[in-house]
Amino acid sequence: MTIIFAHRGASRQCPENTLSAYERAVKLGAGGIEIDVQLSKDGIPVVIHDRTLKRTTSGKGIVTETNYADLKKLDAGSWFSPKFQQECIPSLEEVLTFASDYPDLWLNIELKYYRENDEQLAKTAIPIIKKFRSDKNTLISSFEHERLLEVHKLWSKVETAPLYKGNLHEPWHYAKKLKAKAIHPHFKSIHASLIKTVQAHGINVRPYTINEEKWLRQFLEWEVDGLMTDVPDLALNIMHNKQISQQKKSWWKNVWSMITK
Ligand code: G3P
Ligand code: MG
Repeated sequence: MTIIFAHRGASRQCPENTLSAYERAVKLGAGGIEIDVQLSKDGIPVVIHDRTLKRTTSGKGIVTETNYADLKKLDAGSWFSPKFQQECIPSLEEVLTFASDYPDLWLNIELKYYRENDEQLAKTAIPIIKKFRSDKNTLISSFEHERLLEVHKLWSKVETAPLYKGNLHEPWHYAKKLKAKAIHPHFKSIHASLIKTVQAHGINVRPYTINEEKWLRQFLEWEVDGLMTDVPDLALNIMHNKQISQQKKSWWKNVWSMITK
């Protein structure tokens, strides 16, 4: 079954990467949440997407050049709606604490590398994640593929996944070279036959970020292992209706075989 990941939380309904967005995702019934992580200047993993504070907070400047205490003072909700003015940038630990109430929830933790040679991000974040999570439903993804080898050294059992856009030749070979158990391609970078081939090599496929109904239908039809979406409610609705129509189909098949016996 395809796991529906709420990309940055339920980011159409709440400010992205905030506790409200993650709470809403769980309420909507998402099977997983996606979390962007970078380090504050003083080395605390925080959950925010952009390199700078401008778009999603009341602050200015660069995340990795701002101390944790100062990041916590910022309003991370008003840009989205005045209703969310109490929202602040959560630490990774706060999101993991929230998620610990939902042991079946999948976590896709994306390590964001904006600062060149950031040696500390994986070294700091992985031990914290390990304290809270089992490897069963935790994923570590990144656009910085070399870093995934570092993650593998720190936590060999956790599933890692390179994020990428564009074409990759034989992505299952590439994933294996990185000791990754999955690929997270842009949804335009993958298609039905490639999905099947990658999966046949034991590599999971979870495209990002699919928000249009026709593409959600398509990728659910292609049975990807997971997908990232800003609209988990729409994806779940499509999945639910698909299940109902399959149930109806098999019910009619049974009735028909009884009649024609
Ligand atoms: O996990 C997929 C997605 O998060 C990658 O892109 O820029 O939204 O972090 P971005
Ligand atoms: Mg991300």
